[in-house]
Amino acid sequence: MDQLHIRGGAPLKGSVRVSGAKNAALPCITAGLLTEGDLRLANVPRLKDIETISRLLRHMGAAVEEVGAGGLAVSGRAVSRFEAPYELVRTMRASVLVLGPLVARFGRARVSLPGGCAIGPRPINLHLGGLKQMGAEIDLSGGYVEAKARRLRGTRIVFDMKTVTGTENLLMAAALAEGTTVLENAACEPEVQDLAALLAAMGARIRGAGTDTVTVEGVPTLGPATHRIIADRIEAGTFAVAAAITRGDVTLTDCAPEHMEAVLGKLREAGVDLTPGPGRLRVRMRDRPRAVNVQTAPYPGFATDMQAQLMALMSGADGRSVITETVFENRFMHVNELLRMGADVKIAGRTASVQGVPQLRGAPVMATDLRASASLVLAALGAEGTTVIHRIYHLDRGYETIERKLSALGADVRRVRA
Ligand code: EPZ
Repeated sequence: MDQLHIRGGAPLKGSVRVSGAKNAALPCITAGLLTEGDLRLANVPRLKDIETISRLLRHMGAAVEEVGAGGLAVSGRAVSRFEAPYELVRTMRASVLVLGPLVARFGRARVSLPGGCAIGPRPINLHLGGLKQMGAEIDLSGGYVEAKARRLRGTRIVFDMKTVTGTENLLMAAALAEGTTVLENAACEPEVQDLAALLAAMGARIRGAGTDTVTVEGVPTLGPATHRIIADRIEAGTFAVAAAITRGDVTLTDCAPEHMEAVLGKLREAGVDLTPGPGRLRVRMRDRPRAVNVQTAPYPGFATDMQAQLMALMSGADGRSVITETVFENRFMHVNELLRMGADVKIAGRTASVQGVPQLRGAPVMATDLRASASLVLAALGAEGTTVIHRIYHLDRGYETIERKLSALGADVRRVRA
């Protein structure tokens, strides 16, 4: 298993291109199941999770091919299997995004239940409840959910809580349903908006995407489309923290600062000097960061996917910061590893109290999930000495060539095959 060896201390300098958003690309790829037409997606990041979803679609009979740098051609013409097997769903929960499209277009789907993962139990009851309301018959047996419907019917669905992939699944289901579906308390994330933009290009009739009430007038069929995936706001946020934690000066290009308001607000409060421009963001930091308090929340709140990275920055801040995780139950897996690097963090339930220390120190640490891994990389970049991060396959699920991008900014990072 590969390791990352990082010697900290070098201020990052230069510019780095932000990749396309993993969490927008995943639902956009599964949208290929909704149509006989071809989808041409641009700005798709080359990541393990994208390989996994592509493998899943191919398993169903779809064609998924890389076309040039960042291009992906998806064709759902020959789909003939309607199952997402345990082996694939187990490695990536987002596989559940095939459920809505399959039931909507073929009237049937058999998808393994995702079960628990490192950041909490993460059920899919809201996805299933919505499909049921649209007339699907849902059976759970042998660890699989089977959904059947002659044709889904539009209805009004009120989500109990905001769910990103739940909203995406039902958006895709509603696009081909008979009649009008209204999704209330829908997730507003830019990734949901990006999927809605692709669906609209395919001929779907959607109003209100990006607000918490989304109205979808079903159409009988959807057609081909080309679409460019939005920039990855979490990768961009991670590089912004990398610049700050190393007291560097980094310009992010091909990014979307307008999707990052809450994170940028907190970085500013911490004393980071930010200069946003169209499609770019310059990040500079000279002094030790000030401690800031953060509570994660659905968009436009502070993204849970940036919580671990902000904690790495706060571990070295001047003062005590209180970080509250409200979206997931168990998303503090990075804390024990940060402690190994000399951080001073105490957890009480969903709240972490982080007393900044003047200097983190390198240590052997273990990555546990994608964003926890990112926080360890950041802590290592700001630390004194060398950090060895084990199990970096988590990182490869969501960060495209991270060690190359960091090295180009002057970081001392090596991938070592152990
Ligand atoms: C998406 O996961 C992202 N994944 C996650 O990114 C992200 O952390 C999360 O949204 C929150 O922003 C993708 O987009 C592929 P949710 P998702 O449904 O959709 C509860 C990363 O690092 N819930 O919005 O699975 C759930 O348990 C990842 O890239 C139910 O109770 O998250 C959680 O507490 C990890 N029942 C909350 O809602 C349901 O049916 C929000 O989860 C669905 C969700």
